[in-house]
Amino acid sequence: MIPSINPLVLNLKESATLLINNTVKEMRAQGRDVAHFGFGQAAFPVPELLVNALRDNAGENSYLPTQGLLPLREAFCEYMRSEFGLNYTPGDVFVGPGSKELIFQISYMVEGVLLAPAPSWVSYGPQATLRGKKLIPIETQRENSYKLTARELDQCCHSLAQEQKLLILNNPGNPTGSVYSADELREIADICRAYNVLVISDEIYAKIDFTGRPHASISTYYPEGTIVSTGLSKSFAAGGYRVGMMVIPETLGVLKDALKSVISETFSAVSAPMQYAALAAYSRFDELKDEINLNTEIYKSASRYLWSRFLEMDLNCPKPQGAFYLFPDFENFRPQLRKKGILTGIQLSHSVLEEKGVGFLPGSDFYFPATNLGIRVCSVDFNGKAVRDKWPGGKLTDTQIHELFPNLVMGCDRMEAYLRDL
Ligand SMILES: Cc1ncc(COP(=O)(O)O)c(C=O)c1O
Repeated sequence: MIPSINPLVLNLKESATLLINNTVKEMRAQGRDVAHFGFGQAAFPVPELLVNALRDNAGENSYLPTQGLLPLREAFCEYMRSEFGLNYTPGDVFVGPGSKELIFQISYMVEGVLLAPAPSWVSYGPQATLRGKKLIPIETQRENSYKLTARELDQCCHSLAQEQKLLILNNPGNPTGSVYSADELREIADICRAYNVLVISDEIYAKIDFTGRPHASISTYYPEGTIVSTGLSKSFAAGGYRVGMMVIPETLGVLKDALKSVISETFSAVSAPMQYAALAAYSRFDELKDEINLNTEIYKSASRYLWSRFLEMDLNCPKPQGAFYLFPDFENFRPQLRKKGILTGIQLSHSVLEEKGVGFLPGSDFYFPATNLGIRVCSVDFNGKAVRDKWPGGKLTDTQIHELFPNLVMGCDRMEAYLRDL
């Protein structure tokens, strides 16, 4: 029997990040040593506090409330208040199986178009496709570290007439490692207010920030129209726990009611033991701070090492300010690449993977045109636990970098060799 499938689903291909991850795993299984710059997963183990809470609550077998465990939502509100100065009540909070699912549900429920800066995270677009709506990429500039400006947003909204607009803004950003300042967000907020744009502020990397400034959230400047999403996956190093958190302000009450209904008819509630682990994470956050700060310091060193190597190779690349991504481009090598028959980012990423064993994703997976030669590099191909155990702190010497981040060094050496051979 050949079942007939919803055409919106048939249009979808496997998520680009998961695909590259599987390809690299297969290559490694065949004995090839590959530098994996393609998958953005936390490099560190789950904090003991969460592991113990999960173990202690393995016997919890009740379905929990649709919105999530009340003490967890209370602890999360306190965390948002003390860490970011954001004020919510437990009634505003939703717990989901990963923030990806919660973002999908909002995108599914809300009518109108989806706007996102290009480049933006790979999954926003396919999620919109699943609902039969368009993602409109707003192209950003390398000179502005690929951050959306108020002016770019204004021009885009102006051209879209009256239809409802949902903007997704990710800060700190995947795939660029860029971080918006408070002033930049304030200006974007003014435009959102002027055009009644609904915003999902994806702040999953909020605690992985290298700027030394307090994290700025657009919800501070546009509270009435901003939904914030975050979760355990990145700074808490617990992606596999699949716990995402979302806050929807009281002003968007209709959306809250709708989300409650959709959750109750889909995943019902996140698994109980995981919610107790999340409760430990947020209610005892003070105990995790040192570990999270140290992890961030290590991410910063890894990212900044890659950045300095890319500049030495004559790639253009904004300085990474957070998360674990960089977005270098090969524009300076376009003529040599053309001679080799390479005209698109996909051809480029296949070529480097085949010839040199370095995996990364092309800019077209992030809503740039196919011919764009930007790529996304993840800086997490290192053993976080081993690095932390040996962490010397301060500015690392070359010897220390080789010892702590061998795959990052290997990947850069190979990219350099690829460019030399052109
Ligand atoms: C920008 C961004 N948003 C959301 C997510 C989803 O995180 P999760 O579903 O694990 O909470 C990711 C994960 O890679 C991401 O990079």
